[in-house]
Amino acid sequence: MTSPIRVAVTGAAGQICYSLLPRIAAGEMFGKDQPVILQLLEIPVDKVQEAMRGVAMELDDCAFPLLQDIVLAGDPNVAFKDANWCLLVGSKPRGPGMERADLLKDNGKIFIGQGDAIDAVAADECKIAIVGNPCNTNTMIAASRCSRIPASSFTAMTRLDQNRAATQLAKKAGVAVHQVSDMVIFGNHSPTMYPDFFNAKIDGKPVTDFITDDAWLRETFMPSVGKRGAAIIAARGLSSAASAANALIDHVRSLITKSDEIHSIAVKSDGSYGFSEGVWASVPVRTTGNGTYEVLRDFPMNDFAQEKLRITNDELVGERDTVAELMS
Ligand code: NAD
Ligand code: LMR
Repeated sequence: MTSPIRVAVTGAAGQICYSLLPRIAAGEMFGKDQPVILQLLEIPVDKVQEAMRGVAMELDDCAFPLLQDIVLAGDPNVAFKDANWCLLVGSKPRGPGMERADLLKDNGKIFIGQGDAIDAVAADECKIAIVGNPCNTNTMIAASRCSRIPASSFTAMTRLDQNRAATQLAKKAGVAVHQVSDMVIFGNHSPTMYPDFFNAKIDGKPVTDFITDDAWLRETFMPSVGKRGAAIIAARGLSSAASAANALIDHVRSLITKSDEIHSIAVKSDGSYGFSEGVWASVPVRTTGNGTYEVLRDFPMNDFAQEKLRITNDELVGERDTVAELMS
């Protein structure tokens, strides 16, 4: 029998986790033969802890064969203890009319305490995936608190943006979404992100061979991917949840699987594509298994792309400056 892995998940009583947790327990994230222990964290407020208990009751009632135990916590030092994966979802979502960066002051603090706790108690080889917004900068904050767990173990999720972009290209070209590949999101999980349609492919050939309407690519496709989160908030009255949970499953599954496929993951910048060192920017990666990845540094960028990269980098640097005080 394979020994269980410990998966810490924050924000367990929230919208995303309601979609996410049953799928992890069913083996969709770590595989159908990998038992899991869920270590769930919520804020230490009675009503919210009670809501988390309700979620745990439902997980029990699913009788998932792979779910070996559920730990419920209000203290990050309990939730992250010996965790092999930490999925940081818990934080405030934005409401209508807000940008994700507006959440920085409130949500940023969460990632200070959680970074400290991860460094103190998580397993040495622990990997951390961050969803709570603004996710790139929250990841930078959490990683900045850690000396034992390396920065390369911290990733922020831009897979939802990649999935959104791939679906839009597939619909426009009249092909199935699995025919779209190399659809990389560069930069911040915000409207400044650059969904790089020039390097994306359909059946291995440039997307621009199939979609020749350049104005649609630049003026409809790009902004609609960048603003899709706001469109969902406007329509649903709540931020995306099922698709965010699905993207996190894709993000982690890709990270634990060695593959030649190219995906978007926000990682600590090493200066490639002109991203400032130290910010967490989404770049193309090939996953190398066990939560590791290799950044692909050779995507060609024309003048249009370079200008977009500059804009999203400027925003990441601005967010870094805003939280500099918080991190010192
Ligand atoms: P939600 O409000 O439904 O749930 C968030 C939960 O987090 C709440 O139950 C809250 O009590 C909990 N929480 C708050 N502070 C916490 C802390 N310090 N420790 C543990 N739990 C804490 O929100 P949601 O819809 O689940 O969204 C969660 C976050 O994910 C938001 O910041 C949202 O903007 C973000 N998000 C990111 C993406 C992405 O693509 N990166 C996609 C969708 C949503
Ligand atoms: C999304 O992209 O759906 C999330 O980041 C939620 C949001 O605030 O847009």
